[in-house]
Amino acid sequence: MARVVLDKIKKCYGDVEVIRELNLEIRDEEFMVLVGPSGCGKSTALRMIAGLEEITAGEISIGDRVVNDVPPKDRDIAMVFQSYALYPHMSVRENMDFGLRIKKMPREEIDRRVANASRILGIESYLDRKPRQLSGGQRQRVAVGRAIVRDPSVYLFDEPLSNLDAKLRVQMRAEITGLQRRLKTTTVYVTHDQIEAMTMGHRIAVLNDGDLQQVGTPLELYDTPANLFVARFIGTPPMNFLRGAVGADGGSVTGNGFELDLGEANRDMAAGMAGRDVQVGIRPEYLRDTPREGSGPTAPLRLKIELVETLGHEVLVHGHLGEDMVVAKVDPHRRPEIDTEIELQLELDKLQLFDAVSEQRLNRGERP
Ligand SMILES: Nc1ncnc2c1ncn2[C@@H]1O[C@H](COP(=O)(O)OP(=O)(O)OP(=O)(O)O)[C@@H](O)[C@H]1O
Ligand SMILES: [Mg+2]
Repeated sequence: MARVVLDKIKKCYGDVEVIRELNLEIRDEEFMVLVGPSGCGKSTALRMIAGLEEITAGEISIGDRVVNDVPPKDRDIAMVFQSYALYPHMSVRENMDFGLRIKKMPREEIDRRVANASRILGIESYLDRKPRQLSGGQRQRVAVGRAIVRDPSVYLFDEPLSNLDAKLRVQMRAEITGLQRRLKTTTVYVTHDQIEAMTMGHRIAVLNDGDLQQVGTPLELYDTPANLFVARFIGTPPMNFLRGAVGADGGSVTGNGFELDLGEANRDMAAGMAGRDVQVGIRPEYLRDTPREGSGPTAPLRLKIELVETLGHEVLVHGHLGEDMVVAKVDPHRRPEIDTEIELQLELDKLQLFDAVSEQRLNRGERP
């Protein structure tokens, strides 16, 4: 077991800086997800932890040891790649025990570990097959098995599920989280999929363009995103944003085609922002035709319905408020119709305000 600390990590390829200054602590036994759009530096960060990529500046520790100069094989980590990287000419068993044979581990210990890992993963019955005789999901399990037999201090996963179909992905997601819960091994898991991040991670680190945006539990990121980037990235359907300017008294936001009274709940937050441009953020579940049971005060907003999505247990309606398209949840029995107007209620104590210039979220009770 070990914690992993990235201290002021920087990575350049030639003149191009792809990771600026990354500070991140992954706690012992923690499942940390690194998430962000393509090209933001997730794989680079993971490969630096693995020792597969040189670090331009900064220090990486695994356990109590600075590993900057420790070769990958001596870092006590096991990595699982998106491509699985199985040896095609070797059987499943040989793929799994290859690393242990290289280390000259005694045969009985190797057999014990392979038996244990294949039991955990349910792959005992095809240990003698070649990778090409397996389905994608089975191959993925072998790749995970090969990591488990090494009994490392840290698991590193780089998008291990992206080659699987949607259903298998959901199943393997549950298997990997279950596995980590039992083994309790510190894990760093890279994905670009925010649903994987939300459902798997103890904590999530959001990266954008080589910069760490926020680290927190899934709910912290969902409820209190640090900035517009995180607010947009986390959640489906995504958070709604209304662009407007705060009124002179700090009590309302006016945009093109709407005016919103911010109410008592948000007065503090907007007080220092009078006359400034903001984006009002509101998640679709807090913008409804009838407020949720037990919700706080609401403000009305009228929306002309441009699109209706019926999902069974709920119905989403889309339409423009000013320049911005918004999504609201409405009662499925109401059968909302395109081109009609609907009055929505916005839950004022769930509203978020973002400074349109700095893109940072304004905290309740704290003046900018
Ligand atoms: N060997 C290299 N030389 C130059 N630039 C590189 C090299 N490897 C990666 N990069 C650049 O570094 C940036 C980060 O790449 P990285 O592979 O870490 O992204 P990622 O977040 O894993 O993306 P994806 O989700 O597409 O896998 C990208 O802009 C990429 O083009
Ligand atoms: Mg990558």
